Amino acid sequence: MRTLTCLYVGLLALLVGAGSALAQPEFDQVERGRYLAVVGDCSACHTADPAKPFAGGFRIDTPFGALLGANITPDVVTGIGNWTFDDFQRAMSEGIGHGGKRLYGAMPFTAYTKMTQQDNRDLWAYLQTLQPIANEVNTNQLPFPFNIRTSLLVWDWLNFDQGEFKPNPMKSVQWNRGAYLVEGPGHCGTCHTPKNPLGGDKNSHFLQGNNLGAWWAPDITNNDHSGIGLWTEEDLISYLRTGVNRFVIASGPMAEEVEHSSQHWHNADLKAVAVYLKSDKIQQPAPQALSADDSRMVAGKAIYFDRCSACHNSAGTGEPNIFPRLADNPLIRAANPTSLVNVVLAGSRAGSTASRPTAPAMPSFAWNLNDEQVSNVLTYIRNSWGNAAEPVKPAEVQRLRKNLQP
Ligand code: HEC
Ligand code: HEC
Ligand code: HEC
Repeated sequence: MRTLTCLYVGLLALLVGAGSALAQPEFDQVERGRYLAVVGDCSACHTADPAKPFAGGFRIDTPFGALLGANITPDVVTGIGNWTFDDFQRAMSEGIGHGGKRLYGAMPFTAYTKMTQQDNRDLWAYLQTLQPIANEVNTNQLPFPFNIRTSLLVWDWLNFDQGEFKPNPMKSVQWNRGAYLVEGPGHCGTCHTPKNPLGGDKNSHFLQGNNLGAWWAPDITNNDHSGIGLWTEEDLISYLRTGVNRFVIASGPMAEEVEHSSQHWHNADLKAVAVYLKSDKIQQPAPQALSADDSRMVAGKAIYFDRCSACHNSAGTGEPNIFPRLADNPLIRAANPTSLVNVVLAGSRAGSTASRPTAPAMPSFAWNLNDEQVSNVLTYIRNSWGNAAEPVKPAEVQRLRKNLQP
């Protein structure tokens, strides 16, 4: 009891101490900064070990080689402890880091450049309250010649439009807030915008779908065939808040994004994102579905009824919030089937969120379906129940099977 009381008094002293350390305006600023770090999902790349938040070392594989997230704790020797706000502003807005070195695009400064200076001040105030952690990280693990940072001068010139977000005066405040979040701190285009051969964003195809290696980040523009044209604003909000809606369940990198970032966004911000992403309808001609008597469709149908229909239903309609719908689902008919192949080979468990703590799982079929069977069953679901898309090639399955973790 005595120790408990001591503990209690100690805690109280600590709380009072912490309370008096920060005056209310500073406290509010730090809180805004903490929220921006969540919206920007900084810890996704800057935390490798949960016991050492923001101390860097998380590995990011790019088509050119690997980079590690930097240590952004206030440690003076290995972190950014001796930086001024101007140094931080330069990193976020110009992509220039420690000692004036140019940063690689794996740090999404091409999106963060749109953040307002006020938001960066808040974020900076929060980062300075972090525990300094000594952790030496050599971020640049790229092979020669990509490891030479001077080449980034040319890269930036070709791929980087520097500058704060400029609101569109023709649109509402809410629309502009959504645009700011998606294009700036939310950096949705880092995954969803296709890349040119140098790894820069193809801005003319903003958010139209991009290959992440083992995953496909689908088209999230407002078109019916491959995008989210059939979704309502509520569908989109529910997906970003819980990872599920009546169409799909988020897996892979998006499940992580929901778990660490979007489930914590303020309601008003999710609503603004939905208003922005759903504002302009884009029309695209839909391709023709493969005929039901195509040999791949016949073989695929048999496998589907044998192995898949118990969960996804014979008409592909799934079970709301448990088994995703495959029928009339843009994700199933995405131009690039990488994610689908990966889910069937490796199985998947959707991320858990506060509103859905135990997520259902999709079994792995790598051990009992061969490359041709996987390609046939996917060709079947991509061309049934209102879907129409290119058949999946067995060679594509073979390629992805090689990448599976043992
Ligand atoms: C997708 C991964 C990713 C995300 C998300 C990300 N970063 Fe980074 N960041 C990196 C990588 C990789 C580097 C190292 C780049 C290099 O060395 O060229 C880096 C470098 C930095 C640097 C420069 C550090 C130095 O020593 O020069 C700062 C500052 C920084 N990030 C802050 C942030 C903040 C703040 C956020 C969230 C708003 C964030 N980062 C989100 C990957 C990321
Ligand atoms: C780290 C990469 C990454 C980031 C960052 C990211 N996404 Fe995604 N997103 C994905 C992947 C991969 C999928 C496909 C998930 C799946 O197959 O279940 C996806 C799926 C989605 C979908 C479902 C589309 C469909 O047709 O099923 C929506 C909507 C979406 N993302 C919106 C966003 C928004 C809005 C942002 C920014 C706030 C964002 N994403 C940021 C990788 C990412
Ligand atoms: C035991 C139940 C079960 C069986 C059997 C099953 N699935 Fe699934 N499937 C799921 C669950 C649960 C998910 C969602 C998991 C996630 O997204 O992380 C899912 C997700 C998927 C997805 C991704 C859809 C999306 O919106 O992200 C595809 C494609 C898929 N399954 C195809 C198949 C195919 C093809 C078969 C048969 C070879 C099959 N499934 C068998 C339960 C099942």
